[in-house]
Amino acid sequence: MSNVIVAIDGPAGAGKGTIARHLATYYRLKLLETGLLYRLLGHKANEEKAPLDNVPALMQIATTLDFKDLDNPILRHESVGNLASQIGVFPEIRQFLTGAMRRFCQDIVPPYQGAILDGRDIGTVVCPDAHLKLFITADAKVRSQRRNLEMTANGFDEQTNLAKINERDQRDQNRATAPLIMADDAHLIDTTNLSIEQACEIASKLLEQTLPRT
Ligand code: C5P
Repeated sequence: MSNVIVAIDGPAGAGKGTIARHLATYYRLKLLETGLLYRLLGHKANEEKAPLDNVPALMQIATTLDFKDLDNPILRHESVGNLASQIGVFPEIRQFLTGAMRRFCQDIVPPYQGAILDGRDIGTVVCPDAHLKLFITADAKVRSQRRNLEMTANGFDEQTNLAKINERDQRDQNRATAPLIMADDAHLIDTTNLSIEQACEIASKLLEQTLPRT
């Protein structure tokens, strides 16, 4: 079997990132949180005062993105998530960033045995042939509470609320290009009433069933 590819999609705060990090660590998968690419572009555009609907200007900035900058903690702010979701509606930008994500998947070398990507359109558009697709969801109220706990834990002086989470979900679900939808062959995990450990265990079992036997 070639490199294992795991695709994780779902709305904000559902637990995708936590599950992706868990699987990445335990199964030696190289992780790409694809939302960070949209966040980095939104953040840079904001810094350079480029209007968020000026696609040629955004494309120009997109060509300068460096994966090393994905570690910048500022990208984790909910306000940057909102910028990301505004620029994520443009097909040219999606196509460009999708190319970068696919190159990431082709560039896997030992000790990694594959790649794991989390986002909104990984199972449907970026990696339609992924060996395992998970769609992680949870009740919106629970998701907004989790995001707030996460921001407090990160020391951010910022909180979100149900209205803001719903606004981002609506934009992500209703855009014309690559909206957030569950792939037909994805496994659904609703984490509303699950602990982190329970959610990770379900995801691990599904991945174990997918991995090549050695
Ligand atoms: O996952 P995260 O919250 O970091 O994503 C930020 C925003 O980036 C999302 O709300 C979405 O609009 C956009 N995004 C996307 N496609 C992806 C990943 C993120 O449109 N594959």
